[in-house]
Amino acid sequence: MAYIEVRNVSKDFKRRNAEGKDSTIHVLDDISFEVEKGEFVCLLGFSGCGKSTLLNMLAGFEKPTKGTVSIDGEEVKKPSAKYITIFQHYGLLPWRNVKKNIELGLENKNISREEREQAAQKYLELVGLKGLEQQFPSQLSGGQQQRVAIARGLAVNPEILFMDEPFGALDPITRNKLQGDLLTIVKEQKKTVIFVTHDIEEAVYLADRVFVMQANPGKIQKIYEVKIQRPRDRNSNGFSMYRAAVYNKLFSIKEANIEYMI
Ligand SMILES: Nc1ncnc2c1ncn2[C@@H]1O[C@H](COP(=O)(O)OP(=O)(O)OP(=O)(O)O)[C@@H](O)[C@H]1O
Ligand SMILES: [Mg+2]
Repeated sequence: MAYIEVRNVSKDFKRRNAEGKDSTIHVLDDISFEVEKGEFVCLLGFSGCGKSTLLNMLAGFEKPTKGTVSIDGEEVKKPSAKYITIFQHYGLLPWRNVKKNIELGLENKNISREEREQAAQKYLELVGLKGLEQQFPSQLSGGQQQRVAIARGLAVNPEILFMDEPFGALDPITRNKLQGDLLTIVKEQKKTVIFVTHDIEEAVYLADRVFVMQANPGKIQKIYEVKIQRPRDRNSNGFSMYRAAVYNKLFSIKEANIEYMI
């Protein structure tokens, strides 16, 4: 049995149109896949194809209309403390400093204040925020705020990180740096990551497998196993090849040669 199993999952939403009539939209259609423990999977697709909806079902925030999601042999019915979700907007509490924000998830755990502070300090340093312990979110750059969100997620020692375009609001330089740092951390700690993005390069850089989605209704069109050694060189031929293959798939450009080359 695979670690994460998605079996024939469909999702419909009710929607009210401009005339006030309700209709049903079929957002995800009969999706099935498996993810092994320790894998890094990217869900890639155009805006509106259902990436967040799929992620939210994996994380237990939404229920499938049909089909099942199970993790570690148990059907997902609600969010679990074993998995954390990191969103595009960091969700930091503005009235708490960096250290107190990272401690947040540890406060309802049965651990002493000292242990909590030690854990917060450890993850704060891991994401490169040493020295900024006492700063408040408004005093940090976007990249630093995202690091706080990642540290807060990691501090509760989750088995899985669900990440929904976590670097979407960052400039390319900060984004590249954080991608590298995230990989180092999750590979070292053997976390499983499901990462939503609409950035092809980000997906090819990060993922063990890239799931290319199509829209209306959302489906997984193709799964690419990225067989490039890590750390990956964005300027290498292999990287360009994958980037082109995924690009062509996403934009339905038929150029068979590339598919044979990767
Ligand atoms: N609660 C909801 N009620 C009604 N429709 C919804 C709801 N949530 C999402 N949708 C619709 O489902 C579709 C998929 O939305 P979703 O947020 O999963 O897309 P996405 O791929 O994450 O897009 P983006 O890249 O813009 O974040 C969209 O058409 C959206 O309008
Ligand atoms: Mg989304």
